[in-house]
Amino acid sequence: MTQHDRLLIIDFGSQVTQLIARRLRELNVYCEIHPYQAVDGAFLTEFAPKAVILSGGPCSVIDDGSPRPPESVFTLGVPVLGICYGQQVMMQMLGGLVERGEGTAEFGRAYVTPSATPLPLLDGWFLTDKEQVWMSHGDHVSKIAPGFEVFATSPNAPYAVVADPARNFFAVQFHPEVHHTPNGAKLYENFIRLAGFSGDWTMGAYRDEAIEKIREQVGDAKVICGLSGGVDSSVAAVLIHEAIGDQLTCVFVDHGLLRQGEVDEVVGMFRDTYNIPLIHADEQELFLGELDGQSDPETKRKIIGRLFIDVFQKHAGEVGGAEFLAQGTLYPDVIESVSFSGGPSVTIKSHHNVGGLPEKMGLKLVEPLRELFKDEVRALGRELGLPASFIGRHPFPGPGLAIRCPGEITREKLDILRRADAVFIDQIRKHGLYDEIWQAFVAILPVRTVGVMGDGRTYDFACAMRAVTSVDGMTADVYPFSHEFLMETSTRIVAEVPGINRVTYDITSKPPGTIEWE
Ligand code: XMP
Repeated sequence: MTQHDRLLIIDFGSQVTQLIARRLRELNVYCEIHPYQAVDGAFLTEFAPKAVILSGGPCSVIDDGSPRPPESVFTLGVPVLGICYGQQVMMQMLGGLVERGEGTAEFGRAYVTPSATPLPLLDGWFLTDKEQVWMSHGDHVSKIAPGFEVFATSPNAPYAVVADPARNFFAVQFHPEVHHTPNGAKLYENFIRLAGFSGDWTMGAYRDEAIEKIREQVGDAKVICGLSGGVDSSVAAVLIHEAIGDQLTCVFVDHGLLRQGEVDEVVGMFRDTYNIPLIHADEQELFLGELDGQSDPETKRKIIGRLFIDVFQKHAGEVGGAEFLAQGTLYPDVIESVSFSGGPSVTIKSHHNVGGLPEKMGLKLVEPLRELFKDEVRALGRELGLPASFIGRHPFPGPGLAIRCPGEITREKLDILRRADAVFIDQIRKHGLYDEIWQAFVAILPVRTVGVMGDGRTYDFACAMRAVTSVDGMTADVYPFSHEFLMETSTRIVAEVPGINRVTYDITSKPPGTIEWE
């Protein structure tokens, strides 16, 4: 199997370490993030990085027992880039000094200016006299290590960029990985050029290698995959099917809480277009029966979660002798995060799309996306020929329409909700707004309101439209539709969806709201 050039990011706990990996992946460089506690001399030899980046972090190098990389990072003979805490730890270990910031702390936007000698790391910088960077530091370097020179300064960081060009050691006080350092990507590009990376991390190569790995792992065993209709499980399923063909069976659970046309779309695509063996588990009666009369959000979620596992297990049992369960776990879910409170131990975030299943079923996991970020999964989906409209779909939650129907769920309300949601999405598509929005949907409210249509009184449900922009679903802003759009859509919903006589637009950001209503 091809061995890519590998870059190692040693994580000291910065909030933005993942962004370093994003910037590098965009440059077709394969990199991995590992917490400093896990990186010792033996690890370095085994990993054989072509370059190392020391991340930022919340600690102070002045404190006893503060985190360090192994000494051998500096004797590997590969380029090293230290960022913020990484710069300070590098200076301290190589013979410089770091002091606590008395009036020299910098948080936020700052401007750096160059020194007289140009540095290849900063090629393409300083086309004007200064560059905007993002600083976030309390301590600062007060004496640089032997062999280093200063190449840029800011008012509060006389050592904003220092380097020992002979050894290819670079250290910056600011964060080039964040958006607020507009020329930061250029700095990374220069760093990987100086380190001699060939830019061999492409989706085409990834696809071929992933297929080879899946074949090796699975042999001639059977694999089952829970399809949700979302992008991650779909890409995982198509990739695994390319690798092992009909050894894969997908299970698609229809809990009666899916959107209009969703069952046909998913079944049609996987069974008919991709010829993937697919069990369509129609379990609407079971789910809706058990949800009958339930109005508490957590109770509803718990019922759905429990039934999902039971149903999946039952249908997976029909496959007979499956040894593996495929999941669409992504890289952000598996990065070991550095834990400072718990001493040297690390917290491993593990994410199960169908929580609890692997333990209960005694299956081994196939997770072919665990090295990828979300946008890389989309790129892989395109590489595999999945339609663009499918790859760009808005996220849809596991509990489905249940959490868009506050209070008791009835079939009548679900039918009304599906139709109103379809009109809203149709409007968004017609106006060319779908791809600008992270997620859009309608929630049906548990109140009836009085209206007048024609000459008659109506007493029907009210609904709320919701549309947000977001990067990761953790925070969200309300999408600023025009009044014309909102009024046109409201008119259409009331006219086309019997059962609704009032439409509102939810203008709550997250926080304080959440994206879903429950
Ligand atoms: P909230 O409502 O917490 O949602 O702001 C953030 C994002 O997560 C989705 N979501 C879920 N996805 N299972 C899922 O697979 C769930 O139980 C679930 N709850 C919320 C939500 O649609 C949004 O994209």
